[in-house]
Amino acid sequence: MLKQGLNTLAFLLWAGAGMAQDAKEGAGLFQDHCATCHGIEATGQGPMAGVLVIKPTNLTRLTATNNGAFPTARVAARIDGRDPLVSHGSPMPVYGDFFEGVDTAIKAPSGQPIMTSVPVADLVAYLKSIQLE
Ligand code: HEC
Repeated sequence: MLKQGLNTLAFLLWAGAGMAQDAKEGAGLFQDHCATCHGIEATGQGPMAGVLVIKPTNLTRLTATNNGAFPTARVAARIDGRDPLVSHGSPMPVYGDFFEGVDTAIKAPSGQPIMTSVPVADLVAYLKSIQLE
């Protein structure tokens, strides 16, 4: 009960503060944790790519391959591991615990809030910022 109340409070504070996503933070996290597979440019050509059977996704084309809309919910779920695909044999590591921290919410294009953690929200903001046509 108390925790739920606090979450609601945190959400309201967040909503009041606007979109608290930091693409710069996300860029740093990406270079540290994701570039080995996805590449420094996020195009899927990291040093690990050669040894992976399933190739890392080109993360600069997420919008282009999703009918022009950045797939916010899918990307957040892929990173924090809630997407069931991740726990069923994808080489993409599950980062939910690793990036656990302060909860936050990000907005899907529909306007619906998606709950995740601050680092995941920052990563999503970064990925959104590097989309190519
Ligand atoms: C060990 C290699 C590896 C690392 C490290 C890695 N990924 Fe991945 N990732 C993959 C592979 C391989 C795929 C494609 C297969 C799949 O979708 O499961 C993928 C898929 C994805 C997708 C799904 C794209 C889509 O079309 O929905 C996203 C988003 C993603 N990675 C983001 C990240 C982020 C952010 C990080 C760092 C926090 C990261 N990845 C770290 C290997 C990796």
